[in-house]
Amino acid sequence: MRSLLAEYGETCTAIGWIDFHTGLGPSGFGAKICVGDVARARRWWGADVTSPLDGTSIAADVAGPLLDTLRQKLDLTGAKRVCDRGTCGACTVIVNSKVSYACSILAIDAVGKKIETIESLTSGSKPHPIVPAFVNNDAQQCGYCTPGFVMASKGFLDRNPKPTYEQVKEGLGGNLCRCGTYVGVRQAVLEAAKNL
Ligand code: FES
Ligand code: FES
Repeated sequence: MRSLLAEYGETCTAIGWIDFHTGLGPSGFGAKICVGDVARARRWWGADVTSPLDGTSIAADVAGPLLDTLRQKLDLTGAKRVCDRGTCGACTVIVNSKVSYACSILAIDAVGKKIETIESLTSGSKPHPIVPAFVNNDAQQCGYCTPGFVMASKGFLDRNPKPTYEQVKEGLGGNLCRCGTYVGVRQAVLEAAKNL
């Protein structure tokens, strides 16, 4: 089979490589593309990300993070960009049941997967129990970390619906709050667990 590697190798080596997750493994299909080869990748693999709210498909920027596609193309601005390097958790979303930093995964890696964002939690007839629990427990101050904490909490409760306080503390260790709302956040998760 013809390979992008062979066809566009010269351009690509000047820019750098990323693995392209075809499910066949990075070598089985010549499955590597260049950062920046957006148009070619769309042509080859139909790289669309589907909105978690209404199923709208948007062409993903192969070279860009999922956070950019969510915020700039789908207008889902709940996930925040703070550190932009996978350390603070403000951009947390859930991709195929896995809690993920949207700033640190490529949009192309979310193609065909179920994406949950803070907006998803209130799009049904009833909000997810973690939403009122954050309000009831004053689990936010400036609010900049809050969407990420809410999504990390939702993902944590999906895996552990009957947690202890210590488990919550450890389970949310990937998110930082500069305002120090940690106790309220943990109490919110415990309250939500009672209402799942
Ligand atoms: S903005 Fe993504 S982890 Fe901080
Ligand atoms: S509420 Fe301000 S950073 Fe967490």
